[in-house]
Amino acid sequence: MTKRLYIDTVGCQMNVLDSEMVVADLRKRGFELAGDLAAADVILFNTCSVREQAENKTYSALGRLRSFKKQHPEKIIGVMGCMAQKDQKLVFERAPYVDLVVGPGQLARIPDLLDEVAAGKGPQMAVSLGRREGPVEDIKRSHETFDPLRDPTMRPTPFQAYLRIQIGCDKFCTYCIVPMTRGPEQGRDPEQILAEARVLADQGCKEITLIGQTVNSYKHTSGGRTTRLADLLHSLSQVDGIQRLKFVTNYPKDMTDDLLQAVRDLPKCSPYLHVPAQSGSNSVLARMKRGYTVQDYRETFSRIRATLPQAAVTSDFIVGFPGETEEDFQKTYELVEECRFKNSFIFKYSERPGTKGAELYADDITYEVKNRRNNDLLALQNRISEEDSQRFLGERALVLVEGPSERELKRRAGGVSPLSHGDVVQLTGRTPDDRIVVFDGNPRLVGEIIPVAIYDVAPHTLFGAVVTEHLSGAGFQPALQLL
Ligand code: 5AD
Ligand code: SF4
Repeated sequence: MTKRLYIDTVGCQMNVLDSEMVVADLRKRGFELAGDLAAADVILFNTCSVREQAENKTYSALGRLRSFKKQHPEKIIGVMGCMAQKDQKLVFERAPYVDLVVGPGQLARIPDLLDEVAAGKGPQMAVSLGRREGPVEDIKRSHETFDPLRDPTMRPTPFQAYLRIQIGCDKFCTYCIVPMTRGPEQGRDPEQILAEARVLADQGCKEITLIGQTVNSYKHTSGGRTTRLADLLHSLSQVDGIQRLKFVTNYPKDMTDDLLQAVRDLPKCSPYLHVPAQSGSNSVLARMKRGYTVQDYRETFSRIRATLPQAAVTSDFIVGFPGETEEDFQKTYELVEECRFKNSFIFKYSERPGTKGAELYADDITYEVKNRRNNDLLALQNRISEEDSQRFLGERALVLVEGPSERELKRRAGGVSPLSHGDVVQLTGRTPDDRIVVFDGNPRLVGEIIPVAIYDVAPHTLFGAVVTEHLSGAGFQPALQLL
């Protein structure tokens, strides 16, 4: 009998990919995806621990299942991902009706553990070793990459895919829980990565985003040969069918010239670099143990600009890190003003038990101050993003069409008649430098890379019209003629 699975995913790209893998694995064993939680036999939460708020949301969602589980004791509830690894037995204590707790390094065990639960053997837990719980090789082995089968139906679009090249992190920034939940940094074998890229290409995938916590620190040594990210990009560029290569997230200190040159010289590499600065103050960076100064970051940034003048550079910032003064914050503000990032993701510091930061520093910045700094920095970044978008006005962008826009999906959900042949709908897609473009077109364009003329811009969106001459041969009726 087919069993139905519901999976709720929060957090980073790693989690999105982990969920894809778990679904592919369970499908192989007879599971189908359920449309909603109530219809499922197995309910999995793929969780995040980077900020407390994400954990609170998961515990609230679990709390809402308390009476549901009483009514349906045969349904299996599982918690996987970083919160499972971090909280372990605490998950069972806070939600005693949970059947399964599985850390991100143990995902391959989910099918067997589900069998054990179904066989009445009680709650099951599989977690990796902690960073001090044994010899490093044992710890590494307990954090396994889980990259079995690719399932294009589990991705937002089958033409775009994440490909894991590295797991874990060894940087130990003092605010961050990731080195504890995802274990030691380990680069995957380049042969496996290439083989997976070929599978993705055969599935019709055009854009691959390589992912790793510090993706540009990627290193793999075998047979006396060391492979780095730049080498991988060269090999992956040879894979037929793959047209775009991106990679996230970069660690500023490992942004080497050969990598920047690879991005410049390989036509398939997207000119898009996410290089989180986290703060513009040296004293905060030192307490974060980021391993660089603002001067070092500036130097990296100018090398990026010199080699890739047109690249879109984005960053992450944490505001309200312990001890952050107004002056420190002002320096962060100035760094954003100076670098003019395409976008920045701004987070309020969240103390994470188990990190050095929680041990060493009191979380002494009030919520109000964190909030104000967050809003001030966001307002500045939005202004910069909007100004930066302006230069695309009147330009043509090459867009990989992803699907109907959110507005279109809402309209359809609201009862507009289903699509028919020749319909024109609002579509959305992405430029090589990761800008979102909204335009009208035929849904048949989904999955194509097409030129779009930009006629309006917002801070994080470009608006355009399909350039018609490109499409005449394809028998396409243009949505709008422009230029
Ligand atoms: N509090 C707030 N933000 C955090 N991040 C990581 N840990 C924390 C934390 N404890 C942010 C960093 C990182 C991004 C993924 O999340 O900016 O780059
Ligand atoms: Fe966390 Fe720092 Fe590693 Fe990024 S580099 S995952 S912020 S410890």
